[in-house]
This record gives sequence, structure tokens and C-alpha cells, in this order.
Amino acid sequence: MSVAASQAWSALQKHAGEIKNKHLKDLFAEDPHRFEHLSFKAAGCMLDLSKQRITSETLQKLYQLAEQQSLGDSIEKLFSGAIVNPTENRPALHTVLRQPEEQPLIVGDIDVNSAVHKSLKQMESLVNQIHNAQWRGYDGSPIKTVINIGVGGSDLGPLMTCRALAMHSPEYARNLDVHFVSSMDGSQLARLLDKLDPASTLFILSSKSFTTIDTLANANTAREWLISNSSESQDVITRHHFIAATASPQKAIEWGIPERNHLRFWDWTGGRYSMWSVIGMPIALQIGMDNFRKFLNGAHQMDEHFRHAPLQENLPVLLGLIGVWNINFLDIHAHAVLPYDGRLAHLPAYLEQLEMESNGKNVTHSGNAVDYSTCPILWGEVGPNAQHAFYQLLHQGTESVMCDFIAPALRYQDNGKELQTQHQLALANCFAQSRLLALGDSILDDIENAPPHKRYRGNQPSSTLMFETLSPETFGALIALYEHKVYVQAVIWEINPFDQWGVELGKKVATSLLDCFDNPDQDTLDASTYGLMNYIRQQRGGFSE
Ligand code: F6P
Repeated sequence: MSVAASQAWSALQKHAGEIKNKHLKDLFAEDPHRFEHLSFKAAGCMLDLSKQRITSETLQKLYQLAEQQSLGDSIEKLFSGAIVNPTENRPALHTVLRQPEEQPLIVGDIDVNSAVHKSLKQMESLVNQIHNAQWRGYDGSPIKTVINIGVGGSDLGPLMTCRALAMHSPEYARNLDVHFVSSMDGSQLARLLDKLDPASTLFILSSKSFTTIDTLANANTAREWLISNSSESQDVITRHHFIAATASPQKAIEWGIPERNHLRFWDWTGGRYSMWSVIGMPIALQIGMDNFRKFLNGAHQMDEHFRHAPLQENLPVLLGLIGVWNINFLDIHAHAVLPYDGRLAHLPAYLEQLEMESNGKNVTHSGNAVDYSTCPILWGEVGPNAQHAFYQLLHQGTESVMCDFIAPALRYQDNGKELQTQHQLALANCFAQSRLLALGDSILDDIENAPPHKRYRGNQPSSTLMFETLSPETFGALIALYEHKVYVQAVIWEINPFDQWGVELGKKVATSLLDCFDNPDQDTLDASTYGLMNYIRQQRGGFSE
């Protein structure tokens, strides 16, 4: 039976019928203590749900849905290494990647946690060699530039975290430049290679599968650049200038990276859940190993909270259930992520992959087509910039959009007053926007006489997520919060958040098209693809029709 035919679901549908007639301004008027009743704290984070279109009855009904779907059991399955990714027949053990060393986890007959800590120590040793100028380029130069080549989960998480925590970079790491190259068209790489010194440049090839064409294309270009600029052999170049962070060591060896330059992780770490593993090496290079461990510890604090806190106080559970409420009961299918802190500029892109690659699914575990919506369209931008771009649609468009406002309470504590004032300005804007979106122009005086194009209807729901300061710990906790939120929703929707067969299919089709450029076949290609291929051939001067 579909979850949408269940008792808990029907009760929520009925309740939504009542809530739909209420405006957020009425909900605030009914309960002046809404904030106290609907804000929650854990692992250094504070989640304010008072601007969501809910009452305490809504939450009760959502908890019943969670219990009906055995959410508690599913959480325990995630942590204990059960097969939560059945289409690939494996567990999803990203939580072990941040579990303290003294807490073993035996899966099958392997102590997974001790393997994790062994690989962390190996990474630490390489990180130290690079920081201490013991790792040298082909002519003995110390490494000054590191380029991470990877895409999707092997790029977005490390990139986001390096940018978010850059100011935590210790003195000894500040001379190292860390760059990220992901795009298969070579544009990022070409720009960097133009100005870099090959002898002091190290590449980390980050790829779980070591078959991703985007990454291999960039890696081949990088290797050719090094060989042609050094006149050294391929062996010397790969030994001095390439590290592989991968779950497929054999493929890395075949590409030419010697085993002693390998950092390993495992197939039970999903790509988009992998920055806590050796895929986080660029993060450790940028912020130092001590801070990297603090980042893991922050995530672990959120893991512990998720695993043990009751549903009613559990931040990931609440965030997940609120999403389900908005999507499935209030028919809201767009979700904007709006950090009011420029250091979090890459958070929306990271969450796009985390949420949409995980829960953009249309069949249940039993293979039935879902008869309800799953992951909404998620996008975002640094809030103050988005105010000058798409907020118009949030305020006066025709679509309902749910928003996450995210900001630190404190910033620039060690800087001058001017910067602290700028932070306050950003917070004032953050609170003003969520207030206006919730309450509409009812907060303004004398608005009834305003012309229709100046009216704001409001009633757009939002969550506000805050933490004291942006630190390795709070940032780790924030990301773990979103990871678990995604899992909560997958449990309610009965879908697998840990595979991505749609993306795999795209890769296959791209590979098969590569061979068609020279000789496109009208009979096998659709008319559009055939026409586009011919257009390329005409531009190359090879063929005209
Ligand atoms: O986009 C699909 C995907 O498989 C992601 O899940 C993954 O993060 C990315 O490609 C990169 O894969 P890999 O790390 O194997 O190169």
C-alpha cells in the first residue's frame, strides 16, 4: 500500500485543508510565543520553524507519519551498517567517517571504523608532508599549488568547505593555494595552467569510481601539461605530481598513479556523502588536520543527536518532516536556500546535489511508481545578492516557495566595528525578508490604500537556521543536519536516497554519442540530435547538407 493511502497521510491531508485557509499572520496572532514553541537547538545549531505554516497539531500528525513509517528503526539501520542502499546492495556509512576512533563498528566481520581511521592517518601523513615542504615536485621544488580534479561529490563538498572555512587556515597552510577543477570542457583548467608553475603544482585526482570522464579528461590534460613542460617521463610525473583519492585503486593504478600515492575510501561512501573521507584532503590542506578533525567532530555531534534525540526535538527529523508537509500537503515544489554569509556561497550548489541527486526519485523500494511528489526543485544564492535577483518572484510571483535562511549570529568578532556593522546589516536583511515573506504587507502601516502592484501577499513559509559563529564544528554539524534531513524524507517517501541511476544513464548515452560526431546516423539518432551533430560538422567544415 502506498504511504499516500495510509491513515497518517490522510489525517495530514485533512489537516492541510484547514491550514490552507490560514495565513501566517493569523498563526502569529494566535500564539505570541510561537518562536519559543517552534524553535529547536542541537549540536550548536538553532532551527526556527515558527515561520512555517504549521501548528502544534501539524507536528503531532507529522510525528505520527514518521512513526508509521518506522523512522526510528530506519535511523538505527543507517548507523549500524544495514543495507540501506538496496539497489547497490550496500550500507551508507558516511556517519562512520566522523565517528571517534574508540567507537568500533563491525559490519560483516570488518571493523569499519578502524579502516576509516587508518586512512585518515594516511591522509594526515600526506597533508603534513605537503605542509612541511617534504613533498617535492619533479625538480625538487616544494608544492605551492594544489589542484583538486573531481566532479559532483568529489568536488562540491570540498570546494564549499574550503571556501566556508578559509579563515580558519593556520599560518603554516597559508602559502598553499588550493584550486578546484571540475568542468569537462577544460575551461577552469586552461585558465589555471596558463599561469601555474608545473614543478610546484600537485594534482589530487578525486574520483570514487575513477571512471568519470569529466575527471579523467582534465587529468589527462594536466598530465600532458606536466610532461611537456618538464621533459620528464610519465612515471616521474605521476609519482611527484598526482595523488589519487578513490574507492577504485586498481583503476588509479591503470591510469598510472603508484599505490603509495593512493588514499582509499570505500564503495559504501556515497559520492555526495564523501567529503568526510579522503575526498576531504583539499579541506585538510586548506584548514589543517586539526581543524579537519573538528569539522568531523561537529558532524558527529549532529549524528549523535539524530540517532538518540526524540523525534519531537530532533533537528534533522523536524527539517525533513517540514519539507514533507510543504511538498506533499501544501503543494509547494520549489525550495530556495539563502545563506546570509558570503562564505557559504557554495552551499546552494552542494545542496542541489545532496537533495536532488538523493531524493529526485520516482519509484519506491518495492519498485512501484510513487503517487506523491518527492524532492522539490532546489536552488539558491547568497541571500543579499539574491534579493537583487529572484526575490521579486518570492514576494510577488505566482509560485509558492519554501526558503531556508541561514546565518551565523556572530561574525567579525576580532575585526573592526565596520565589518561587524556589515554583518548586522546582513542579519537585518535576512530577518526583514523572512518577515515580509511570512506576514506580507500586513506589517506595514496604511497599506490598504496602496495600488495592487505594491501589495505583498506573504504566507511564504521559511525556516531560519542559525549557529553562534561559522566554525569547523558548526559547519560540520550544519552539513550533517542536511544529510540526515534528506534521509528522513527518503524514509517517509520509501525511496532510496543513496543511488543515482538516472545520472548513470546520462553518462552511458554521452559515451555512445561520442562516436557519432564523424558519422551521425539519421536512422538511429532522433532528428534533433542528428541535426545538432550535423551543425557541428558544418562548423568544422567537414560536411554540409
Ligand atoms: O553525478 C553522478 C556521480 O556519480 C556523483 O554521484 C558523484 O559524486 C560524481 O558522479 C563523481 O563520481 P566519481 O567520484 O566516481 O568520479
